[in-house]
Amino acid sequence: MNTDKFEKHILCIGAGYVGGPTMAMIAARCPQYQVIIIDINAEKIKAWQTDDLPIYEPGLLELVKTARGKNLYFSTELEENIKKADIIFVSVNTPTKSFGEGAGKTADLQYWEKTARNILKVSVSDKIIVEKSTLPVRTADAMERILNSNDKGIHFEVLSNPEFLAEGTAVNDLENPDRVLVGSQETARGRKARATVVEVYANWVPREKIITSNVWSAELSKLVANAFLAQRISSINSISALCEKAEADVHEVAKAVGADTRIGSKFLQASVGFGGSCFKKDILNLVYICESYGLKEVAEYWENVVKINEYQQRRFVQTMTRALFNTITNKRIALFGCAFKANTGDIRESPAIYIAKKLLQEQARIVLTDPKALENTRQELGDLARKFDFEADPYKAAMNTHAIAIMTEWDLYKTLDYERIFQKMEKPAFIFDGRNILDHTRLFEIGFNVYPLGKEPLTHF
Ligand code: NAD
Ligand code: UDX
Repeated sequence: MNTDKFEKHILCIGAGYVGGPTMAMIAARCPQYQVIIIDINAEKIKAWQTDDLPIYEPGLLELVKTARGKNLYFSTELEENIKKADIIFVSVNTPTKSFGEGAGKTADLQYWEKTARNILKVSVSDKIIVEKSTLPVRTADAMERILNSNDKGIHFEVLSNPEFLAEGTAVNDLENPDRVLVGSQETARGRKARATVVEVYANWVPREKIITSNVWSAELSKLVANAFLAQRISSINSISALCEKAEADVHEVAKAVGADTRIGSKFLQASVGFGGSCFKKDILNLVYICESYGLKEVAEYWENVVKINEYQQRRFVQTMTRALFNTITNKRIALFGCAFKANTGDIRESPAIYIAKKLLQEQARIVLTDPKALENTRQELGDLARKFDFEADPYKAAMNTHAIAIMTEWDLYKTLDYERIFQKMEKPAFIFDGRNILDHTRLFEIGFNVYPLGKEPLTHF
């Protein structure tokens, strides 16, 4: 029974890219609830309490500030916060397992299980546990068994409420979601818990956008949604390779194909490959589940989405090397963008990192630039970082280079003074547009040799 002014006590375990923004939105839209976010990483928690948030996400600081200190709190204190929570969202990381059975494919559930055991250890009352992390199908089942193995006479109902936000647009995605999905067991207790979680979202999300389902469907839907999105990118990227051979223009093809309302125009932007912490991990997870049910053909079908993505990145490096007269040894090359997409500082699975490492293997001298992700890149590269130059200013980064490659579709790169850049580069100067965001004809007129994706290159020789 709550004895304070709040109607509900919501706890979120895991203050990362999902936990932070999601809970900030709940707190901002539901002042009647107390929302506490905890994490084992004390530095991260400290940063959430300042104006220098641990993640870069447009509009997030403003959102956090509307609720922080009123009904939104960040903490490292586990025990007391678990005890008083009515609903516990769990959004800890679920990376791909790197060892043992399922290594390289299935999710590593050690953080999830540890969290479940912590909850079990300190709880003294019934609780609703909500999977916010993306998890393999039937994880809720396993978690419910662990939690309900207690002899304290308390009951845990485990729901699946996968998160569909995309980084860079997280605040808007949370404010106006296409849908919210809440899955539960189809039992009286399960449905009651589901109604409680639906009620939270109904504070700002129209009811018709809140979908309910059984818990396994909710878990699987998340993996499938990401697989479908990634599949579209691999589809158009595979066609970009064909366009380059067939003198077609991938942009024109995508426009014509996407104009069919049955297909739709979104997620058909050819690129150097998809990155981010979710797509590859979630597809491999799906592949593993299919394999474990003996569905070999289905598993292979989805695995090819990842293979095409790897092919696209390899292909990009090959195009660069061939264009630069088959040797890039000692050539200075600037990579514009390290983040896996624009408007985020996140570099997890970023094609830029893969390509930087590949070019380094060829003994090129690489300078990395990005408006938000340079520090994360430096950390990710670890010991290797000393082999790269880091330069926040793109004009300085491009100086004395033989080539520039656009890795991230930051707006900033569309409006640079490329004439000024061209003057300070080695000649012949090359530009490889891994995102097809630049004005290729104009760059060619300036004097660049231009290599777009899925289009014929524009060269002066
Ligand atoms: P993240 O790494 O940014 O955050 C996870 C946080 O959990 C970290 O801060 C970590 O310190 C904390 N943590 C781990 N174990 C803990 C424990 N025992 N107790 C307390 N805190 C603990 O990860 P993320 O990007 O927020 O992703 C979280 C989950 O959400 C993953 O399953 C991911 O697949 C899913 N997801 C991510 C996105 C996205 O855009 N990043 C979108 C949808 C779903
Ligand atoms: C994705 C899903 O979109 C989101 O619903 C889910 O919750 C988490 O995973 P995210 O990875 O943050 O979100 O970004 P997204 O916009 O999906 O982009 C993923 C990658 O695909 C980026 O590298 C992006 O540049 C690339 N992409 C996207 C393309 O190459 N072409 C496109 O047309 C769209």
